[in-house]
Amino acid sequence: MYDWLNALPKAELHLHLEGSLEPELLFALAERNRIALPWNDVEALRAAYAFNNLQEFLDLYYRGADVLRTEQDFYDLTWAYLLKCKAQNVVHVEPFFDPQTHTDRGIPFEVVMRGIKAALVDGEKRLGISHGLILAFLRHLPEEQAFQTLEQAMPFRDAFIGVGLDSSEQGFPPRLFERVFAKARSEGLHAVAHAGEEGPPEYIWEALDLLKIVRIDHGVRASEDKRLMQRIIDEQIPLTVCPLSNTKLCVFEHMGQHNILDMLERGVKVTVNSDDPAYFGGYVTENFMALHEGLGMSEEQAKRLAQNSLDARLA
Ligand code: HPA
Ligand code: ZN
Repeated sequence: MYDWLNALPKAELHLHLEGSLEPELLFALAERNRIALPWNDVEALRAAYAFNNLQEFLDLYYRGADVLRTEQDFYDLTWAYLLKCKAQNVVHVEPFFDPQTHTDRGIPFEVVMRGIKAALVDGEKRLGISHGLILAFLRHLPEEQAFQTLEQAMPFRDAFIGVGLDSSEQGFPPRLFERVFAKARSEGLHAVAHAGEEGPPEYIWEALDLLKIVRIDHGVRASEDKRLMQRIIDEQIPLTVCPLSNTKLCVFEHMGQHNILDMLERGVKVTVNSDDPAYFGGYVTENFMALHEGLGMSEEQAKRLAQNSLDARLA
C-alpha cells in the first residue's frame, strides 16, 4: 500500500517550511553558523519531539528555526523539502513561511524570501514541481506587526500568492486580524487561515466571515457544528487536514478517532497534508499511510483525497 500511495500524484497545501527542518539539517546548519545547541546530538533532539499540545510543539519549533540565518540556509531548507516531494510524487506545493519568526531575531525579510524563492524556482525547473508560496502571520503577535510584515513583503509581491495565519490558536481569534487580511486581499492575495485545530468552531466562522478565507487550515473541529458543516459542504470550502500532526499534538488521542474520512464521506473537500513533517513523523505519504492503517482508508478514498488536493490549489 505504501508504494501505491507514494505513487499517487498529489499536491501539498499545508506545510510549514520551518517545520520541514530535519534534525540532521538543523545540526548541520548550527555547525555552519557556529551556534551552540542545547541537545548533544540528533537522537537527543528527536527524543524531545513529544508534545501534549500545540504550544509545546511551537516552543521547540521556534527554537529550531534559530539555526536558519543566511539565504543559503533558507535555500537548503526548502530544497530538502522539495526533494522529499519529488520522492513522494507531490507535483504541486503551497508552503507557508513565517517571516516574523526570522525578522524578530534580526534576519532581514529579503534574506528569508530570496532563499526560499530561489529553491522553489529551481524546484519548478529541475524537479517539475509547481508552487504557490503563502506568507503566514504569527497570531500570538499584534496585528500591527502583521501589517509591518505585509509592508516588508510588498516589494516581493510577485513571489507569493497569499497570506495565512498560524501559531498559538487558543486566545488569538481570527477577528484580531480582520484589517490586515482586508489589506492583503486588496492587493490581490488569497487568504487562508489555521482555524479549528485546537480552537472552537467559532474561530472557523470568523475566519470565513471576517478574514474571507478561501481554504481552512486544519478545521477538524468543524464537525462539532452542524450549521458550519453544512456551509463548508455547500460551498465546497477545502480543508487542509494534517492527520499525524493532529495525533502528535493530541487534537485526537489516536488515529482511530480522526474524523477526516467521516468528513470525506459527508462531502467535505478534505485534503491530506503533513504540516511539520520533521516534527510529526512523516511527509505526505506517511500521512496517507497512517489513515490506511488507523482508519482503514481504501484506495478509492485515497484517490479522492489526492484529487481534492489537486482541485484545491490556489496557484
Ligand atoms: N498550527 C499552528 N501553527 C503552526 C502549526 C500548526 O499546526 N505548525 C506550524 N505553525
Ligand atoms: Zn499548520
